[in-house]
Amino acid sequence: MAANSPSLSLDSEFYKPASAFFREHAQVGLTYDDVTLATLYSEVLPRQTNLETVLHERLRLRIPIISADMDTVTESPMAIAMALHGGLGLIHCNLPERQQLSEVSRVKNNVHGLIQEPIKIAPDQQIGDVLALIEERGFSFRTFPVVDDQGRLLGLLSGTVVRPRYAGIKVADAMTPRRDVKTIHERDLGKSPIATADQFFSKNIGIHKLLVVDDGDRLRGLFTISDIERITQERNSQLKPARDAQFRLLCGAAVTATRNSTGELDRDRILAHIGALVERGVDVIAVSTAHGFSKGVGDTVRLIREAHPELPIIAGNVTSGEGVDYLADCGANVIKIGQGPGSICTTRIVAGVGIPQLTALYVAARAAEKKGVSILADGGITKSGDIVKALTLAHGVICGGLLAGCPEAPGQLMEINGKLYKQYRGMGSAAAMQAGSAARYGHSSKDSMRKLAAEGVEALKEVNPPLDIVLTQLAGGVQSGMGYLGASDLAALREKARYIQVSPAGQRESAPHDIVEVKTGN
Ligand code: XMP
Repeated sequence: MAANSPSLSLDSEFYKPASAFFREHAQVGLTYDDVTLATLYSEVLPRQTNLETVLHERLRLRIPIISADMDTVTESPMAIAMALHGGLGLIHCNLPERQQLSEVSRVKNNVHGLIQEPIKIAPDQQIGDVLALIEERGFSFRTFPVVDDQGRLLGLLSGTVVRPRYAGIKVADAMTPRRDVKTIHERDLGKSPIATADQFFSKNIGIHKLLVVDDGDRLRGLFTISDIERITQERNSQLKPARDAQFRLLCGAAVTATRNSTGELDRDRILAHIGALVERGVDVIAVSTAHGFSKGVGDTVRLIREAHPELPIIAGNVTSGEGVDYLADCGANVIKIGQGPGSICTTRIVAGVGIPQLTALYVAARAAEKKGVSILADGGITKSGDIVKALTLAHGVICGGLLAGCPEAPGQLMEINGKLYKQYRGMGSAAAMQAGSAARYGHSSKDSMRKLAAEGVEALKEVNPPLDIVLTQLAGGVQSGMGYLGASDLAALREKARYIQVSPAGQRESAPHDIVEVKTGN
């Protein structure tokens, strides 16, 4: 076997582990296309590899891919699709706070097994109140259990009557009464509540809701047939969902270091916003700015950490070991690495700063290891091979451009010369900053256009297939890379990777060449 091979020392002269390779290249900034990974003896088939990543003990993803908190990438449809396929979406914050809360609610209320805290209504409310609640909280469902002030079940308000024409009618007069509502006692759920509910829906044709009650007929939970059917289907799907302890999809939300009119950090507003996000069930907060190694970002992270000791916090962006130390000391658990690599970024051109991504990741990874935090490679990912390279140093990647053309990304399709496109813009582009993201780049949106030095561009992306196809391809590529390195999981990939720099001719050789391409890889 390879371990005894006399050629081992020859290989190690050329193909170096991260510590030796990046130190030897300390005088040059390297990014994904500058290096390639050497293969290793393998007994691991790609499909046997495990892509799970633990960013924090309360933040476990089944695939290490996160959709960027950008206003042309992640709102609830993208976050739902990302979590359904095992990743995570970070809802952007370039929208009114109330709307961001609704987006988070949509993700957290998407598909449950047993909904332990169903949204309940009171019998003396009017249907108009229920419609307002649906609008305010962004609920995608319209059927509600009706309970008294002791939590006892009085009936079920069916979605078929929740219509504006009935707005003035009292819930008590429109609901299905208790005697006609199907329920199950919580003690009869057994060891597998989902299987119990599945059998119930098969036997009770036409019934779509099953309510769970206790001895006192108090409401203890709710199953819906569509959730149960989705969950049953998920068991056979290739990429499994990322869920929280209550079986809800994972969801993250971005915030910035908001300042008040005197330029001070607006502590009350930040805390109220975070409190409301936590109440909606958000799993992680991302303090997203262009310059994370700064007092405003550090103070914001500290503020959130003090108020919410257990809440996972992502913070960034930085590209130095000191930057990682600083944010970790302030209380961040996961640090975003990347300044200027993004496909829509102009930070390096406008401000003259930023570090090519692989070098930045190496430096950050060493600091993160010492501090016991994880890091995310944010920006510049254009293909699955980049993700493999990023994951030799980082615990996950954040993608914007790769996902912005998917139907799940916000924005309308546009047709130009017979081709379909979607808008994709940098959060530091003039248009996005005018729409609210200026604080992320250290500006105020009240500044005139002249004062806002844009650090991003507005662009178009050719339309992509739906996210499940894109993610399956990306995850499949990462698994291939792991197979070539004999790495059965991501920790092994980080440990085993060996690198070599690629010449410009080597880079040309790495892509299809000297052919007339008639069909792309996918
Ligand atoms: P990709 O390459 O995936 O990058 O499209 C997405 C990441 O780019 C960052 N970002 C920006 N950086 N100016 C910048 O310098 C911008 O306008 C901008 N908008 C987004 C961000 O980190 C995102 O995740």
